[in-house]
Amino acid sequence: MSQAVQYDLERLHGEHTTNFFDCGVQSLDDWLGSQALEQQEQGRSCTHVWADAGGMVVGYATLLPTTITEQDPGLMSRLRPYKYPRTSDLCGVLLGKLALDQSLRSRGLGFDLLAAAFLVAYDAVRLIGGVYLVTDPIESVRGFYEKFGFQTLPGTSRMFLHMREWAEAGTSIDP
Ligand SMILES: CC(C)(COP(=O)(O)OP(=O)(O)OC[C@H]1O[C@@H](n2cnc3c(N)ncnc32)[C@H](O)[C@@H]1OP(=O)(O)O)[C@@H](O)C(=O)NCCC(=O)NCCS
Repeated sequence: MSQAVQYDLERLHGEHTTNFFDCGVQSLDDWLGSQALEQQEQGRSCTHVWADAGGMVVGYATLLPTTITEQDPGLMSRLRPYKYPRTSDLCGVLLGKLALDQSLRSRGLGFDLLAAAFLVAYDAVRLIGGVYLVTDPIESVRGFYEKFGFQTLPGTSRMFLHMREWAEAGTSIDP
């Protein structure tokens, strides 16, 4: 984890400055500036940001609820808790987007941002139920997620983290 810079994750709001954000992936920069707040207001997803003292966003993670159905038999069989009905959907959290400004890269802050997003998802799951955090990463960052503990579901590009297993394996996640 990084030592020098620390940010607190906060829910995106209208006073945040998003148009200088530059993560090197144009679609992720554009999405933050043009869609994140609107989708949040519609209740489709929630975007959590790191911002500097002036409110300029330097990193963000977008989370939304998701379900796995019997249509995803591989993931279902890997994540289904003991005695969980085979016919019921399995609830979890989708990490829809994660991006860090290029000015802050390669010093552990990407992991810190992902860990902060994980904690938001973990809290949500503890409060209302759910089993996993799942993401559909672009190919070039699969290694980043693997290092964090995500596993690839064989035969798919999807990666997942079993919340309880991951938290139990860690030492400081659960207060
Ligand atoms: C993905 C992203 C958040 C990572 O941030 P970062 O600051 O570069 O990553 P960190 O410095 O925290 O790296 C943590 C660890 O992951 C590794 N890592 C980082 N990016 C990696 C990659 N693309 N592939 C493999 N490993 C990677 C680092 O080497 C480091 O490992 P170490 O602890 O063994 O040294 C950042 O590169 C980013 O915003 N990219 C553009 C947007 C993007 O692609 N988002 C993902 C969409 S699915």
